[in-house]
Amino acid sequence: MMWLCVIVLLQNMGQKRWFFLLAVFACLFSSSCGRVLKLKSDDDRPVYNHTLAITLVEYTSAVYMSDLSELFTWTCERCNGLTKGFEVIEIIVDVEHCLQAYVGVAKDLNAIIIAFRGTQEHSIQNWVSDLFWKQLDLNYPDMPDAMVHHGFYSAYHNTTVRPAVLDAVKRAKKSYGANLNIMVTGHSMGGAMASFCALDLVVNEDEENVQVMTFGQPRVGNAAFASYYNLLVPNTFRIIHDHDIVPHLPPYYHLFPQKTYHHFPTEVWVTELSVLNIVIRGVEKVCDNTGEDPTCSRSVMGSSISDHLTYFGVELMGETWRQCNIVMSHEMENYSRKDSKGNIFLSRTVPSTDVIKTKSIFKTGISSL
Ligand SMILES: *[C@@H]1O[C@H](CO)[C@@H](O)[C@H](O)[C@H]1NC(C)=O
Ligand SMILES: *[C@@H]1O[C@H](CO)[C@@H](O)[C@H](O)[C@H]1NC(C)=O
Ligand SMILES: *[C@@H]1O[C@H](CO)[C@@H](O)[C@H](O)[C@H]1NC(C)=O
Repeated sequence: MMWLCVIVLLQNMGQKRWFFLLAVFACLFSSSCGRVLKLKSDDDRPVYNHTLAITLVEYTSAVYMSDLSELFTWTCERCNGLTKGFEVIEIIVDVEHCLQAYVGVAKDLNAIIIAFRGTQEHSIQNWVSDLFWKQLDLNYPDMPDAMVHHGFYSAYHNTTVRPAVLDAVKRAKKSYGANLNIMVTGHSMGGAMASFCALDLVVNEDEENVQVMTFGQPRVGNAAFASYYNLLVPNTFRIIHDHDIVPHLPPYYHLFPQKTYHHFPTEVWVTELSVLNIVIRGVEKVCDNTGEDPTCSRSVMGSSISDHLTYFGVELMGETWRQCNIVMSHEMENYSRKDSKGNIFLSRTVPSTDVIKTKSIFKTGISSL
């Protein structure tokens, strides 16, 4: 931009004054545009917060709970510790696609938390091997050259999840105040959904103060998508646990920069340093702003599924694999509704202190994305 300006100015030296002024004006305009579009420099990048990470990993862990009553009243065994006092506004179970998410308010963080569950496929191994072959097969709307994986995109955009999440965010702001931050989190495919949700909130809902922290998320789009994403949701951290295989997928082919999947920043690589067989947890490296820092997780072979299922010592999976189970007590009937396709929503506008006793179990089929 600046080179162009200098050349234009030199060419116009000694010519009519109005033309000179026009050139100056054009340069100011273009260089200020350039500044807006420039990626943020290292100095004003958001700062990684370890305390927030170990808090959000607990929120992400809780979204795997299948007892909706305990989740709704925040009394589940994972609904404790750093997340105490959380108030759930909405739980969404998209039974058709076996997806689960919730929205609520953490007053201690002054934030709305949105959490997405990862896949509940028959086997995590199969899901991971399918990731190798995911194509960049959808143009992200209104972002030229940005391509994403249709399946991940649709899990958020083309299911019951999106409308229910957006509605719950509006209700939360109404009851708890409009100046709440929004923190979006998720694990694995839930991390992919979290990033689409955050982008949606910024682009289509004009939300500010949206931040994202995901755990072991796969790549979701190409380099053009990653640049847009970074511009719009700069306060994003993708935590990667050591040799977790999923963030290495779908693969990054550096020989085909225009065609390949490309992570958005900022990766935080958490490795486990062990000295004399004693594991010292949480050596965290905040990586560069390219999204594909070769000195972080890409410096190792991603080969571990068990690293994928534990972050900061917290388990990130359901109590049972292979089933898309839902457990819900009859007391929840006043809060729940089902749509015509059997998808389940638990909604609240006022806090409740109901004690849950009876349980009934619904088993539902699984379909994969
Ligand atoms: C980090 O996050 C915690 C909440 O989890 C907050 O209390 C603390 O102030 C944050 N630290 C910084 C430096 O922003
Ligand atoms: C959304 O899902 C419906 C049915 O599941 C499908 O027909 C439609 O093509 C999907 N739209 C997009 C944009 O993926
Ligand atoms: C559900 O709502 C009805 C009417 O408002 C009330 O009579 C009933 O006690 C509620 N049930 C539970 C379990 O809260």
